[in-house]
Amino acid sequence: MDVISVIRTKRDRGELTPDQIDWVIDAYTRGEVAHEQMSSLAMAVFLNGMNRTEIARWTAAMIASGERMDFSSLARPTADKHSTGGVGDKITLPLAPLVAACGAAVPQLSGRGLGHTGGTLDKLEAIPGWRAQLSNAEMMDVLRDVGSVICAAGDGLAPADKKLYALRDVTGTVESIPLIASSIMSKKIAEGTGSLVLDVKVGSGAFMKNLDDARELAATMVELGTDHGVRTRALLTDMSTPLGLTAGNALEVRESVEVLAGGGPADVVDLTLALAREMLDAAGLTDADPAKALADGTAMDHWRRMIQAQGGDPDAPLPVAREQHTVTAPASGVLTSLDAYAVGLAAWRLGAGRARKEDPVQAGAGVELHAKPGDAIQQGQPLLTLHTDTPEKFDYALTSLEAAYDIAPAGTAVTRTPIVLDRIA
Ligand code: URA
Repeated sequence: MDVISVIRTKRDRGELTPDQIDWVIDAYTRGEVAHEQMSSLAMAVFLNGMNRTEIARWTAAMIASGERMDFSSLARPTADKHSTGGVGDKITLPLAPLVAACGAAVPQLSGRGLGHTGGTLDKLEAIPGWRAQLSNAEMMDVLRDVGSVICAAGDGLAPADKKLYALRDVTGTVESIPLIASSIMSKKIAEGTGSLVLDVKVGSGAFMKNLDDARELAATMVELGTDHGVRTRALLTDMSTPLGLTAGNALEVRESVEVLAGGGPADVVDLTLALAREMLDAAGLTDADPAKALADGTAMDHWRRMIQAQGGDPDAPLPVAREQHTVTAPASGVLTSLDAYAVGLAAWRLGAGRARKEDPVQAGAGVELHAKPGDAIQQGQPLLTLHTDTPEKFDYALTSLEAAYDIAPAGTAVTRTPIVLDRIA
């Protein structure tokens, strides 16, 4: 097999054969196919797509590139959640201990933030002492003792995807449904969860900007999971405005703890409960009551144990950025929109995110929202507070917020978008 013929097939809109796919994924993982050749093939896939048969084979080849985990020794059914990424998306933090409190085992392998979307591991690392890197044996111990674990995926899981995702990130080939679906599902299937709920984000702050694309991505992933014996379903959820009232690592941990304490913003609580119900149902735990576990402190108890099991101190004060700058409302009226992408970009520019995967992040940096679309606004009231340790970044962050929101005259009717837009099973 030679790589140029594989590239030509896809460049000329042909269908890749199973042998071509198996060979190119394996040869790239071993270093026989060069980055520039894989980059050319990724661009051909980006432009010309892959059909469902090709996507299924591509995913299987990426799973086969590494190890598969096995949770069959656990006494509880396993349930996992994956979000396609958004602004202020801290849901994994309250969700994992909540679902564990209801009787499932939650092996939540998570990632770091890149660009304007945050990463679960960066958020949790704001907690003094907390460790993202666990060996497989340590991960199993936390799962057995607490019921949920949130940690980094080991290097052995779908190594082909690790290499390919890093390449796509620097070659403009991330936003492709076949490549996103195979990337996410290869990791989730190799991880070995019995059931999986996908939170597919739609809107300015997400990869998928419209519902039709999000539906296609969700349906592709649900089919891949189901074909591999994982009970998979997807919720399509709104990402036109940030989730909750915070975007940034320590700020989002604080908000997650508020949710676990029975408070927190309504959209974060609603989405946490909707995803928990889906996960529990997919895991066969249909009698569980996540709203009760949130209200009676059981979920909070699991959170504290999970953080402690990974070296963290759940009582330690969270880092606070050295400087704050508040943006006030220029007029009175009703806030009709607050753009997720603009807020995510501002948080990233303030130091909450990274441009390259080796960059450090500031734990305290980010953006706090004082109003959400639909709220009445008085001229001069605080709209947003920017947090950073590096105040020279305020001006740069503020430029991304210039056209981030709209205020209409008082009395203007605003339709609030529901948080869950659709469900695919
Ligand atoms: N997340 C992934 O893991 N892969 C993608 O391709 C996009 C988002």
